[in-house]
Amino acid sequence: MTSEHWELQTYLNERIKLIDRALDHYLPAADTLPSRLHAAMRYSIFAGGKRIRPILLLAACEAVGGDLHRALPAACAVEMIHGYSLIHDDLPAMDDDDLRRGKPTNHKIYGEATAILAGDGLLTEAFILLSNPEMWVDTDPEQSRKIIHILAKSAGSRGMVGGQVVDMECEEKLVDLPTLEYIHTHKTGALILASIEMGAVIGGATADQQRALCRFGEAAGLAFQVADDILDIVADETELGKDVGSDSQRGKATYPSLLGLQGARQQAAELQQLAISALDVFDESAQPLREIANYIVERSF
Ligand code: IPE
Ligand code: IPE
Ligand code: MG
Ligand code: MG
Ligand code: MG
Repeated sequence: MTSEHWELQTYLNERIKLIDRALDHYLPAADTLPSRLHAAMRYSIFAGGKRIRPILLLAACEAVGGDLHRALPAACAVEMIHGYSLIHDDLPAMDDDDLRRGKPTNHKIYGEATAILAGDGLLTEAFILLSNPEMWVDTDPEQSRKIIHILAKSAGSRGMVGGQVVDMECEEKLVDLPTLEYIHTHKTGALILASIEMGAVIGGATADQQRALCRFGEAAGLAFQVADDILDIVADETELGKDVGSDSQRGKATYPSLLGLQGARQQAAELQQLAISALDVFDESAQPLREIANYIVERSF
């Protein structure tokens, strides 16, 4: 392992700790009634996870000179929405997976009804947090409105949920590249891009910085799902923490299924370069973002 790699790992671990502490603080306690629902929400949120969306949000905020502590509520909100999307994605009606983050999926522990409601609870909790004026002391109300709008739009039917429905509709079908790109930029890219946009807004980015970060976010978001598709084929199940081979079993439209493994790897590498070159307008302040872009494509889980 190179020293650069080690430093990134230390950075990621420290950010995970910071984000986990904040999530623990913001989420309803496990004994808050109805306690089984809150336990189910906490089960999935604290089952592990790379926290890549909140980490990107904080890094984008810092890249433009912002204070990461002001960005923590938005960072937690995006992770809550991501957690909800994973609980629902694993349900029998969707991908029907039994393993997530190395543990049984939410519905395997709590049953389908509670898993659906735990997802609903997490989605709503994200907006309870972001609409709480206490989270925005000394902040222009226009900024908090903007953040809520970015997140809501990226999560809804024109974002993640839209991508998920087309992903389901395309099971066992031959899709073309534009359709596949639509699925991936929506089901996964949208929340990643929104994370970066929110970080930029909270950090006070200039219009030029925002444009550059959006280009970075679009490329990194698509790259993330291309890498996820590849990992579904090549990863070690224990290390990945989720069922390997799930995509081909369900006849999912993926980059490897359309372009072959080599073609998908090539695509991921091109997106990685595109993401990094979008950051040319930044100096050292964007170094974490550059390294995260490499990590997104080169990760093994
Ligand atoms: C998995 O996301 C689902 C996708 C959108 C590809 P992550 O790979 O970020 O999952 P965790 O949060 O680290 O478990
Ligand atoms: C999931 O894509 C995207 C969302 C949950 C929004 P996948 O179905 O490929 O994610 P994994 O592989 O189950 O994590
Ligand atoms: Mg899915
Ligand atoms: Mg899935
Ligand atoms: Mg996948």
